[in-house]
Amino acid sequence: MRDDLSAHSISWHTDAIIYQLHVRTFADSNGDGIGDFPGLISKLDYLADLGITCLWLMPFCESPLRDDGYDVAHYERIHAPYGTMDDFQAFLDAAHANEMRVITELVINHTSDQHPWFEAARHAPAGSAKRDFYVWSDTPDRYAGARVIFCDVEASNWTWDPEAGAYYWHRFFAHQPDLNFDNPHVRQAVLKVMRFWLDKGVDGLRLDAVAHLFEREGTHCENLPETHAFLKEVRASMDERYTGRILLAEVNDTPAQMRTYFGAGDECHMAFHFPLMPRLFMAFASERAEPIVRIVEQTLDLPAGCRWAVFLRNHDELTLSALEPSERAGLHDVYAQEQAMRLNHGIRRRLANLLGHHHERLVLAHALLLSLPGTPVLYYGDEIGMSDNVALPDRDGLRTPMQWDDGTATGASVEAQAGVPTSLLEHVRRLIAVRQRHDSLRHGAIEFLATGDPSVLGFVRHAGDERVLVVANLSASPTETTLELGDANRLTMVVDLLDGAPAVVPTPGMPFTLTLAPYSARWLSLVPSLETTHS
Ligand code: NOJ
Ligand code: CA
Repeated sequence: MRDDLSAHSISWHTDAIIYQLHVRTFADSNGDGIGDFPGLISKLDYLADLGITCLWLMPFCESPLRDDGYDVAHYERIHAPYGTMDDFQAFLDAAHANEMRVITELVINHTSDQHPWFEAARHAPAGSAKRDFYVWSDTPDRYAGARVIFCDVEASNWTWDPEAGAYYWHRFFAHQPDLNFDNPHVRQAVLKVMRFWLDKGVDGLRLDAVAHLFEREGTHCENLPETHAFLKEVRASMDERYTGRILLAEVNDTPAQMRTYFGAGDECHMAFHFPLMPRLFMAFASERAEPIVRIVEQTLDLPAGCRWAVFLRNHDELTLSALEPSERAGLHDVYAQEQAMRLNHGIRRRLANLLGHHHERLVLAHALLLSLPGTPVLYYGDEIGMSDNVALPDRDGLRTPMQWDDGTATGASVEAQAGVPTSLLEHVRRLIAVRQRHDSLRHGAIEFLATGDPSVLGFVRHAGDERVLVVANLSASPTETTLELGDANRLTMVVDLLDGAPAVVPTPGMPFTLTLAPYSARWLSLVPSLETTHS
Protein backbone atom coordinates (compact mmCIF):
# COMPACT_ATOMS: atom_id res chain seq x y z
CA MET A 1 0.00 0.00 0.00
CA ARG A 2 3.04 2.28 0.15
CA ASP A 3 2.31 4.91 -2.48
CA ASP A 4 4.88 7.52 -3.29
CA LEU A 5 3.07 10.80 -3.01
CA SER A 6 5.98 12.62 -1.44
CA ALA A 7 6.64 14.73 -4.51
CA HIS A 8 3.11 16.19 -4.24
CA SER A 9 1.87 18.51 -1.59
CA ILE A 10 -1.07 16.20 -0.80
CA SER A 11 0.17 13.07 0.85
CA TRP A 12 -1.21 10.55 3.33
CA HIS A 13 -0.21 12.68 6.30
CA THR A 14 -2.02 15.76 5.03
CA ASP A 15 -5.28 13.83 4.76
CA ALA A 16 -4.94 11.59 7.81
CA ILE A 17 -6.96 11.18 10.98
CA ILE A 18 -4.37 10.32 13.62
CA TYR A 19 -5.21 8.46 16.83
CA GLN A 20 -2.72 8.56 19.69
CA LEU A 21 -2.65 5.52 21.95
CA HIS A 22 -0.50 3.78 24.48
CA VAL A 23 0.01 0.04 24.02
CA ARG A 24 0.23 -0.30 27.81
CA THR A 25 -3.26 1.09 28.41
CA PHE A 26 -5.19 0.27 25.25
CA ALA A 27 -6.08 -3.41 25.27
CA ASP A 28 -4.81 -6.35 27.32
CA SER A 29 -4.95 -9.74 25.57
CA ASN A 30 -3.70 -12.05 28.32
CA GLY A 31 -5.26 -10.66 31.47
CA ASP A 32 -2.04 -9.59 33.17
CA GLY A 33 -3.41 -6.07 33.47
CA ILE A 34 -0.95 -4.63 30.95
CA GLY A 35 -1.95 -3.73 27.42
CA ASP A 36 -0.05 -5.46 24.64
CA PHE A 37 0.35 -5.73 20.87
CA PRO A 38 -2.03 -8.71 20.47
CA GLY A 39 -4.63 -6.66 22.38
CA LEU A 40 -4.07 -3.70 20.09
CA ILE A 41 -4.43 -5.91 17.02
CA SER A 42 -7.82 -7.06 18.33
CA LYS A 43 -8.99 -3.42 18.42
CA LEU A 44 -7.96 -2.40 14.91
CA ASP A 45 -11.54 -2.97 13.70
CA TYR A 46 -12.78 -0.46 16.24
CA LEU A 47 -10.23 2.10 15.03
CA ALA A 48 -10.93 1.45 11.34
CA ASP A 49 -14.70 1.81 11.95
CA LEU A 50 -14.08 5.10 13.68
CA GLY A 51 -12.37 6.33 10.51
CA ILE A 52 -8.84 6.42 11.86
CA THR A 53 -6.18 6.31 9.14
CA CYS A 54 -3.03 6.56 11.23
CA LEU A 55 -1.99 5.39 14.69
CA TRP A 56 0.61 7.12 16.82
CA LEU A 57 1.99 4.74 19.43
CA MET A 58 3.65 6.08 22.56
CA PRO A 59 7.02 4.49 23.38
CA PHE A 60 7.09 0.69 23.57
CA CYS A 61 10.82 -0.02 23.66
CA GLU A 62 12.52 -1.70 26.60
CA SER A 63 12.39 0.71 29.51
CA PRO A 64 12.36 0.91 33.31
CA LEU A 65 9.18 3.00 32.81
CA ARG A 66 10.19 5.81 35.11
CA ASP A 67 8.84 8.13 32.42
CA ASP A 68 6.39 5.62 30.95
CA GLY A 69 8.80 4.59 28.19
CA TYR A 70 10.22 8.03 27.33
CA ASP A 71 13.21 6.62 29.20
CA VAL A 72 14.52 4.09 26.70
CA ALA A 73 16.85 1.34 27.92
CA HIS A 74 17.13 -0.42 24.55
CA TYR A 75 16.11 1.13 21.22
CA GLU A 76 15.82 -2.12 19.31
CA ARG A 77 13.87 -4.24 21.79
CA ILE A 78 10.20 -4.29 22.72
CA HIS A 79 9.29 -3.77 26.38
CA ALA A 80 8.56 -7.43 27.21
CA PRO A 81 5.08 -7.11 28.80
CA TYR A 82 3.84 -5.53 25.53
CA GLY A 83 4.87 -8.57 23.46
CA THR A 84 7.70 -9.63 21.19
CA MET A 85 9.21 -8.05 18.08
CA ASP A 86 7.12 -10.55 16.09
CA ASP A 87 4.01 -9.26 17.84
CA PHE A 88 5.00 -5.72 16.89
CA GLN A 89 5.56 -6.76 13.27
CA ALA A 90 2.21 -8.58 13.23
CA PHE A 91 0.56 -5.41 14.52
CA LEU A 92 2.26 -3.24 11.89
CA ASP A 93 1.26 -5.59 9.09
CA ALA A 94 -2.32 -5.76 10.39
CA ALA A 95 -2.53 -1.96 10.62
CA HIS A 96 -1.29 -1.66 7.04
CA ALA A 97 -3.77 -4.30 5.91
CA ASN A 98 -6.47 -2.08 7.47
CA GLU A 99 -5.22 0.92 5.47
CA MET A 100 -3.75 2.51 8.59
CA ARG A 101 -0.33 4.13 8.80
CA VAL A 102 1.73 3.88 11.98
CA ILE A 103 3.82 6.59 13.65
CA THR A 104 6.23 5.49 16.39
CA GLU A 105 8.45 7.46 18.70
CA LEU A 106 12.08 8.39 18.20
CA VAL A 107 13.13 9.49 21.68
CA ILE A 108 16.67 10.64 20.99
CA ASN A 109 17.26 13.69 23.15
CA HIS A 110 17.93 11.39 26.09
CA THR A 111 18.00 7.76 27.16
CA SER A 112 17.26 6.03 30.43
CA ASP A 113 20.18 6.01 32.87
CA GLN A 114 19.85 2.24 32.50
CA HIS A 115 20.73 2.32 28.80
CA PRO A 116 24.00 0.43 28.10
CA TRP A 117 25.40 3.61 26.51
CA PHE A 118 25.07 5.44 29.82
CA GLU A 119 26.41 2.49 31.80
CA ALA A 120 29.44 2.48 29.51
CA ALA A 121 29.81 6.27 29.62
CA ARG A 122 29.93 6.60 33.39
CA HIS A 123 32.65 3.94 33.61
CA ALA A 124 34.71 5.12 30.62
CA PRO A 125 37.65 7.51 31.03
CA ALA A 126 36.85 11.21 30.87
CA GLY A 127 37.32 12.52 27.33
CA SER A 128 36.82 9.10 25.69
CA ALA A 129 34.29 8.63 22.88
CA LYS A 130 32.20 6.38 25.15
CA ARG A 131 32.11 8.90 27.99
CA ASP A 132 31.24 11.59 25.48
CA PHE A 133 28.00 9.87 24.47
CA TYR A 134 26.50 12.12 27.15
CA VAL A 135 27.12 15.71 28.30
CA TRP A 136 29.38 16.06 31.35
CA SER A 137 30.68 18.89 33.48
CA ASP A 138 32.83 19.38 36.58
CA THR A 139 30.42 22.03 37.84
CA PRO A 140 26.64 22.41 37.70
CA ASP A 141 27.00 25.96 36.36
CA ARG A 142 27.25 25.48 32.61
CA TYR A 143 24.33 26.37 30.28
CA ALA A 144 22.68 28.41 33.00
CA GLY A 145 20.35 29.93 30.39
CA ALA A 146 18.38 26.69 29.98
CA ARG A 147 15.11 26.48 31.93
CA VAL A 148 14.18 23.46 34.03
CA ILE A 149 11.23 21.87 32.23
CA PHE A 150 9.99 19.45 34.91
CA CYS A 151 10.18 22.27 37.43
CA ASP A 152 7.89 20.52 39.96
CA VAL A 153 10.38 17.66 40.42
CA GLU A 154 13.83 18.74 39.28
CA ALA A 155 15.82 21.66 40.67
CA SER A 156 18.62 21.62 38.09
CA ASN A 157 19.49 20.28 34.64
CA TRP A 158 22.68 18.77 36.15
CA THR A 159 22.97 15.70 38.38
CA TRP A 160 26.12 14.39 40.05
CA ASP A 161 27.20 10.90 39.05
CA PRO A 162 29.52 9.41 41.69
CA GLU A 163 30.59 6.67 39.26
CA ALA A 164 31.91 9.16 36.71
CA GLY A 165 32.89 11.78 39.26
CA ALA A 166 31.15 14.43 37.17
CA TYR A 167 27.79 16.07 36.59
CA TYR A 168 25.67 14.94 33.64
CA TRP A 169 23.17 17.05 31.73
CA HIS A 170 19.43 16.24 31.54
CA ARG A 171 16.57 18.44 30.28
CA PHE A 172 13.92 16.17 31.83
CA PHE A 173 14.06 13.75 34.77
CA ALA A 174 17.46 13.13 36.37
CA HIS A 175 17.17 9.50 35.26
CA GLN A 176 17.09 10.68 31.62
CA PRO A 177 20.64 11.79 30.70
CA ASP A 178 20.80 13.82 27.48
CA LEU A 179 22.76 12.34 24.58
CA ASN A 180 25.64 14.48 23.33
CA PHE A 181 24.84 15.42 19.74
CA ASP A 182 28.24 17.07 19.33
CA ASN A 183 29.64 13.55 19.26
CA PRO A 184 29.49 12.16 15.68
CA HIS A 185 29.19 8.63 17.09
CA VAL A 186 25.93 9.66 18.79
CA ARG A 187 24.56 11.11 15.57
CA GLN A 188 25.45 7.93 13.69
CA ALA A 189 23.93 5.74 16.42
CA VAL A 190 20.69 7.73 16.32
CA LEU A 191 20.43 7.48 12.53
CA LYS A 192 20.93 3.74 12.87
CA VAL A 193 18.00 3.54 15.33
CA MET A 194 15.88 5.52 12.89
CA ARG A 195 16.70 3.10 10.05
CA PHE A 196 15.97 0.11 12.29
CA TRP A 197 12.33 1.20 12.67
CA LEU A 198 11.90 2.48 9.12
CA ASP A 199 13.19 -0.89 7.87
CA LYS A 200 10.44 -2.56 9.89
CA GLY A 201 8.00 -0.43 7.92
CA VAL A 202 6.82 2.31 10.25
CA ASP A 203 5.40 5.25 8.32
CA GLY A 204 6.41 8.11 10.56
CA LEU A 205 8.50 9.08 13.54
CA ARG A 206 7.48 11.46 16.29
CA LEU A 207 10.62 13.32 17.31
CA ASP A 208 10.33 13.67 21.07
CA ALA A 209 11.74 16.78 22.75
CA VAL A 210 13.59 17.61 19.58
CA ALA A 211 14.20 21.29 20.39
CA HIS A 212 16.80 20.33 22.98
CA LEU A 213 19.33 18.23 21.05
CA PHE A 214 22.30 20.62 21.24
CA GLU A 215 23.56 22.91 24.02
CA ARG A 216 25.54 26.12 23.60
CA GLU A 217 26.77 28.50 26.29
CA GLY A 218 25.00 31.85 26.37
CA THR A 219 21.77 30.49 24.84
CA HIS A 220 18.66 28.87 26.32
CA CYS A 221 19.74 25.68 24.53
CA GLU A 222 16.55 25.34 22.46
CA ASN A 223 16.02 25.53 18.69
CA LEU A 224 19.75 25.99 18.06
CA PRO A 225 21.07 26.19 14.48
CA GLU A 226 23.03 22.96 15.15
CA THR A 227 19.76 21.20 16.05
CA HIS A 228 18.14 22.32 12.78
CA ALA A 229 21.21 21.25 10.81
CA PHE A 230 21.02 17.78 12.34
CA LEU A 231 17.27 17.51 11.68
CA LYS A 232 17.92 18.31 8.04
CA GLU A 233 20.47 15.50 8.05
CA VAL A 234 17.87 13.14 9.56
CA ARG A 235 15.38 14.13 6.87
CA ALA A 236 17.91 13.76 4.05
CA SER A 237 18.98 10.37 5.29
CA MET A 238 15.31 9.30 5.50
CA ASP A 239 14.52 10.55 2.00
CA GLU A 240 17.61 8.88 0.59
CA ARG A 241 16.35 5.37 1.37
CA TYR A 242 12.62 5.52 1.99
CA THR A 243 9.51 6.99 0.41
CA GLY A 244 6.25 8.09 1.99
CA ARG A 245 7.65 8.34 5.54
CA ILE A 246 7.26 11.42 7.70
CA LEU A 247 8.84 13.25 10.64
CA LEU A 248 6.58 14.80 13.28
CA ALA A 249 8.23 17.34 15.59
CA GLU A 250 7.33 17.63 19.25
CA VAL A 251 8.26 21.23 19.95
CA ASN A 252 6.30 23.68 22.06
CA ASP A 253 7.22 27.23 21.19
CA THR A 254 6.04 30.46 19.58
CA PRO A 255 4.62 30.32 16.04
CA ALA A 256 7.82 31.87 14.65
CA GLN A 257 10.09 29.31 16.32
CA MET A 258 7.81 26.41 15.43
CA ARG A 259 7.81 27.45 11.78
CA THR A 260 11.58 26.83 11.64
CA TYR A 261 11.06 23.08 12.19
CA PHE A 262 9.54 22.80 8.71
CA GLY A 263 12.67 24.42 7.23
CA ALA A 264 12.16 25.06 3.55
CA GLY A 265 10.20 21.83 3.35
CA ASP A 266 13.46 19.96 4.05
CA GLU A 267 13.11 19.37 7.77
CA CYS A 268 9.99 17.97 9.49
CA HIS A 269 6.79 17.19 7.57
CA MET A 270 4.64 17.92 10.59
CA ALA A 271 4.78 19.62 13.98
CA PHE A 272 2.21 19.60 16.75
CA HIS A 273 0.19 22.80 16.75
CA PHE A 274 1.13 23.77 20.31
CA PRO A 275 0.35 27.46 19.66
CA LEU A 276 -3.27 26.67 18.76
CA MET A 277 -4.05 24.13 21.49
CA PRO A 278 -4.19 26.37 24.59
CA ARG A 279 -5.94 29.07 22.57
CA LEU A 280 -8.77 26.67 21.83
CA PHE A 281 -9.24 26.37 25.59
CA MET A 282 -9.02 30.17 25.94
CA ALA A 283 -11.77 30.45 23.36
CA PHE A 284 -13.92 27.85 25.13
CA ALA A 285 -13.40 29.60 28.48
CA SER A 286 -14.03 33.14 27.25
CA GLU A 287 -16.72 32.08 24.74
CA ARG A 288 -14.90 34.20 22.18
CA ALA A 289 -13.69 33.20 18.72
CA GLU A 290 -10.88 35.72 18.53
CA PRO A 291 -8.01 33.66 20.09
CA ILE A 292 -8.61 30.93 17.47
CA VAL A 293 -8.82 33.31 14.50
CA ARG A 294 -5.71 35.19 15.51
CA ILE A 295 -3.46 32.15 15.99
CA VAL A 296 -4.68 30.31 12.90
CA GLU A 297 -4.07 33.38 10.75
CA GLN A 298 -0.54 33.65 12.16
CA THR A 299 0.29 30.03 11.38
CA LEU A 300 -1.07 29.45 7.88
CA ASP A 301 2.08 29.88 5.89
CA LEU A 302 3.83 26.49 5.69
CA PRO A 303 6.06 24.98 3.00
CA ALA A 304 4.26 22.74 0.48
CA GLY A 305 3.45 19.33 1.90
CA CYS A 306 3.96 20.45 5.51
CA ARG A 307 1.15 20.28 8.03
CA TRP A 308 0.28 21.09 11.59
CA ALA A 309 -0.81 18.19 13.74
CA VAL A 310 -3.82 19.71 15.50
CA PHE A 311 -4.86 18.30 18.86
CA LEU A 312 -7.03 19.03 21.87
CA ARG A 313 -5.29 16.89 24.48
CA ASN A 314 -2.46 14.38 24.69
CA HIS A 315 -0.75 12.22 27.31
CA ASP A 316 1.07 15.13 28.98
CA GLU A 317 -0.18 18.00 31.08
CA LEU A 318 -1.91 20.66 28.97
CA THR A 319 1.17 22.77 28.61
CA LEU A 320 0.93 26.50 29.17
CA SER A 321 4.67 27.19 29.19
CA ALA A 322 4.70 29.17 25.93
CA LEU A 323 1.97 31.55 27.14
CA GLU A 324 2.19 34.89 28.94
CA PRO A 325 1.93 34.55 32.75
CA SER A 326 -1.44 36.36 32.73
CA GLU A 327 -2.84 34.01 30.06
CA ARG A 328 -1.56 31.04 32.05
CA ALA A 329 -3.17 32.30 35.26
CA GLY A 330 -6.45 32.81 33.42
CA LEU A 331 -6.52 29.21 32.22
CA HIS A 332 -5.51 27.87 35.65
CA ASP A 333 -8.42 29.77 37.20
CA VAL A 334 -10.95 28.24 34.84
CA TYR A 335 -9.65 24.72 34.31
CA ALA A 336 -7.48 23.78 37.31
CA GLN A 337 -8.81 25.34 40.48
CA GLU A 338 -7.32 22.58 42.63
CA GLN A 339 -3.55 22.38 43.05
CA ALA A 340 -3.72 18.63 42.34
CA MET A 341 -4.86 19.41 38.78
CA ARG A 342 -1.68 21.34 38.02
CA LEU A 343 1.69 20.00 36.98
CA ASN A 344 4.79 21.99 36.06
CA HIS A 345 3.26 24.96 34.24
CA GLY A 346 0.32 22.97 32.92
CA ILE A 347 -2.94 21.22 33.68
CA ARG A 348 -3.09 17.44 34.07
CA ARG A 349 -6.69 16.90 33.02
CA ARG A 350 -8.44 15.09 30.22
CA LEU A 351 -10.67 16.79 27.66
CA ALA A 352 -13.96 15.64 29.23
CA ASN A 353 -12.96 16.97 32.64
CA LEU A 354 -11.77 20.29 31.20
CA LEU A 355 -15.12 20.81 29.48
CA GLY A 356 -17.16 19.76 32.50
CA HIS A 357 -18.38 16.51 30.89
CA HIS A 358 -20.70 18.74 28.89
CA HIS A 359 -21.88 16.74 25.88
CA GLU A 360 -22.49 19.68 23.54
CA ARG A 361 -19.15 21.29 24.39
CA LEU A 362 -17.34 18.00 23.73
CA VAL A 363 -19.01 17.62 20.34
CA LEU A 364 -18.22 21.26 19.54
CA ALA A 365 -14.55 20.77 20.47
CA HIS A 366 -14.35 17.78 18.11
CA ALA A 367 -16.16 19.70 15.34
CA LEU A 368 -13.40 22.34 15.54
CA LEU A 369 -10.58 19.79 15.82
CA LEU A 370 -11.91 18.17 12.65
CA SER A 371 -12.49 21.32 10.61
CA LEU A 372 -9.63 23.72 11.40
CA PRO A 373 -6.60 23.53 9.08
CA GLY A 374 -4.14 20.73 9.86
CA THR A 375 -4.22 17.00 10.46
CA PRO A 376 -6.29 16.10 13.54
CA VAL A 377 -4.84 13.95 16.30
CA LEU A 378 -7.33 12.33 18.68
CA TYR A 379 -6.16 11.16 22.09
CA TYR A 380 -7.46 7.68 22.95
CA GLY A 381 -10.51 7.75 25.16
CA ASP A 382 -11.43 11.36 24.37
CA GLU A 383 -13.85 10.11 21.71
CA ILE A 384 -15.92 8.55 24.50
CA GLY A 385 -15.41 11.37 27.00
CA MET A 386 -13.23 9.32 29.33
CA SER A 387 -12.31 10.90 32.68
CA ASP A 388 -8.90 11.49 34.17
CA ASN A 389 -7.89 10.49 37.69
CA VAL A 390 -6.09 13.28 39.51
CA ALA A 391 -5.43 10.98 42.47
CA LEU A 392 -2.72 9.24 40.43
CA PRO A 393 0.78 10.76 40.38
CA ASP A 394 2.43 12.76 37.59
CA ARG A 395 0.60 12.23 34.27
CA ASP A 396 -0.64 8.72 35.07
CA GLY A 397 -4.17 9.98 35.60
CA LEU A 398 -4.34 10.85 31.87
CA ARG A 399 -3.20 7.36 30.87
CA THR A 400 -5.69 5.01 32.52
CA PRO A 401 -6.95 1.94 30.63
CA MET A 402 -9.20 2.54 27.64
CA GLN A 403 -12.78 1.98 28.77
CA TRP A 404 -14.10 -0.68 26.44
CA ASP A 405 -16.96 -1.73 28.69
CA ASP A 406 -18.97 0.03 31.28
CA GLY A 407 -17.35 -1.34 34.43
CA THR A 408 -17.36 2.12 35.97
CA ALA A 409 -20.98 2.83 34.99
CA THR A 410 -20.21 6.39 33.94
CA GLY A 411 -21.51 5.93 30.41
CA ALA A 412 -18.04 6.81 29.13
CA SER A 413 -17.31 3.50 27.49
CA VAL A 414 -17.30 2.12 23.98
CA GLU A 415 -19.90 -0.47 24.96
CA ALA A 416 -22.31 2.17 26.25
CA GLN A 417 -21.95 4.46 23.23
CA ALA A 418 -21.37 2.36 20.12
CA GLY A 419 -24.44 2.46 17.92
CA VAL A 420 -26.21 5.08 20.07
CA PRO A 421 -26.70 7.94 17.59
CA THR A 422 -26.73 10.67 20.24
CA SER A 423 -23.50 9.51 21.93
CA LEU A 424 -20.22 11.40 21.75
CA LEU A 425 -18.60 8.41 20.04
CA GLU A 426 -21.19 8.41 17.23
CA HIS A 427 -20.91 12.20 16.81
CA VAL A 428 -17.13 11.88 16.49
CA ARG A 429 -17.53 9.03 14.00
CA ARG A 430 -19.91 11.15 11.86
CA LEU A 431 -17.62 14.20 11.97
CA ILE A 432 -14.68 12.08 10.83
CA ALA A 433 -16.70 10.48 8.04
CA VAL A 434 -17.93 13.84 6.73
CA ARG A 435 -14.44 15.34 6.89
CA GLN A 436 -13.00 12.41 4.98
CA ARG A 437 -15.54 12.92 2.17
CA HIS A 438 -14.54 16.56 1.68
CA ASP A 439 -11.22 17.62 0.17
CA SER A 440 -11.83 21.14 1.45
CA LEU A 441 -12.06 20.00 5.08
CA ARG A 442 -9.04 17.72 4.81
CA HIS A 443 -6.63 20.03 3.07
CA GLY A 444 -8.43 23.09 1.67
CA ALA A 445 -7.58 26.73 2.23
CA ILE A 446 -9.38 28.69 4.95
CA GLU A 447 -11.08 32.06 4.88
CA PHE A 448 -12.52 33.54 8.06
CA LEU A 449 -15.87 35.34 7.86
CA ALA A 450 -17.11 38.31 9.84
CA THR A 451 -19.99 36.95 11.93
CA GLY A 452 -20.86 40.14 13.78
CA ASP A 453 -20.90 38.18 17.05
CA PRO A 454 -17.71 37.73 19.09
CA SER A 455 -18.81 34.30 20.27
CA VAL A 456 -19.47 32.97 16.77
CA LEU A 457 -16.57 31.57 14.76
CA GLY A 458 -17.17 31.41 11.01
CA PHE A 459 -14.94 30.22 8.22
CA VAL A 460 -15.05 28.63 4.81
CA ARG A 461 -12.73 25.80 3.83
CA HIS A 462 -12.34 25.51 0.09
CA ALA A 463 -10.57 23.26 -2.42
CA GLY A 464 -11.31 23.40 -6.13
CA ASP A 465 -15.04 24.06 -6.52
CA GLU A 466 -15.86 22.64 -3.13
CA ARG A 467 -16.72 25.02 -0.29
CA VAL A 468 -17.66 24.08 3.25
CA LEU A 469 -18.87 26.71 5.69
CA VAL A 470 -18.18 26.08 9.36
CA VAL A 471 -20.04 28.16 11.91
CA ALA A 472 -19.59 27.58 15.63
CA ASN A 473 -21.35 29.15 18.59
CA LEU A 474 -18.92 29.09 21.51
CA SER A 475 -21.41 30.54 23.96
CA ALA A 476 -23.95 29.09 26.36
CA SER A 477 -26.80 31.00 24.69
CA PRO A 478 -28.54 30.28 21.41
CA THR A 479 -27.84 32.86 18.75
CA GLU A 480 -28.61 33.92 15.20
CA THR A 481 -25.80 34.92 12.94
CA THR A 482 -25.92 36.72 9.63
CA LEU A 483 -23.30 35.99 6.99
CA GLU A 484 -22.44 37.34 3.59
CA LEU A 485 -22.07 34.30 1.39
CA GLY A 486 -20.48 36.00 -1.58
CA ASP A 487 -21.62 36.00 -5.18
CA ALA A 488 -24.74 38.13 -5.46
CA ASN A 489 -25.58 36.80 -8.90
CA ARG A 490 -25.41 33.14 -8.25
CA LEU A 491 -27.71 30.83 -6.37
CA THR A 492 -25.92 28.89 -3.70
CA MET A 493 -27.49 25.86 -2.16
CA VAL A 494 -26.67 25.41 1.51
CA VAL A 495 -26.61 21.77 2.55
CA ASP A 496 -26.21 20.83 6.18
CA LEU A 497 -23.58 18.10 6.28
CA LEU A 498 -24.27 16.96 9.84
CA ASP A 499 -27.97 17.00 10.67
CA GLY A 500 -29.53 15.97 7.39
CA ALA A 501 -31.87 19.02 7.35
CA PRO A 502 -33.25 19.94 3.93
CA ALA A 503 -31.05 22.14 1.76
CA VAL A 504 -31.83 25.85 1.66
CA VAL A 505 -31.28 28.31 -1.16
CA PRO A 506 -30.69 31.79 0.28
CA THR A 507 -31.72 34.79 -1.78
CA PRO A 508 -28.70 35.93 -3.77
CA GLY A 509 -27.32 39.23 -2.62
CA MET A 510 -29.16 39.02 0.69
CA PRO A 511 -27.40 38.21 3.95
CA PHE A 512 -27.91 34.65 5.07
CA THR A 513 -29.17 34.05 8.61
CA LEU A 514 -28.39 30.90 10.57
CA THR A 515 -29.61 29.86 13.98
CA LEU A 516 -27.15 28.21 16.30
CA ALA A 517 -27.89 26.26 19.45
CA PRO A 518 -25.72 26.86 22.54
CA TYR A 519 -22.23 25.32 22.16
CA SER A 520 -22.82 24.04 18.65
CA ALA A 521 -21.12 23.87 15.30
CA ARG A 522 -22.66 23.53 11.88
CA TRP A 523 -20.87 22.28 8.80
CA LEU A 524 -22.61 23.49 5.64
CA SER A 525 -21.72 22.66 2.09
CA LEU A 526 -22.05 25.63 -0.26
CA VAL A 527 -23.02 24.20 -3.60
CA PRO A 528 -23.09 26.56 -6.57
CA SER A 529 -26.34 26.20 -8.42
CA LEU A 530 -26.15 26.01 -12.20
CA GLU A 531 -28.75 28.74 -12.66
CA THR A 532 -27.99 32.39 -12.15
CA THR A 533 -30.59 34.98 -11.17
CA HIS A 534 -29.64 37.50 -13.81
CA SER A 535 -28.23 36.64 -17.18
C1 NOJ B 1 7.80 14.77 25.87
C2 NOJ B 1 6.87 13.64 26.15
O1 NOJ B 1 5.64 13.91 25.53
C3 NOJ B 1 6.76 13.50 27.65
O2 NOJ B 1 5.74 12.58 27.99
C4 NOJ B 1 8.10 13.10 28.20
O3 NOJ B 1 8.05 13.03 29.60
C5 NOJ B 1 9.17 14.11 27.77
N1 NOJ B 1 9.10 14.43 26.36
C6 NOJ B 1 10.53 13.54 28.02
O4 NOJ B 1 10.78 12.52 27.07
CA1 CA C 1 -1.12 -8.09 28.69
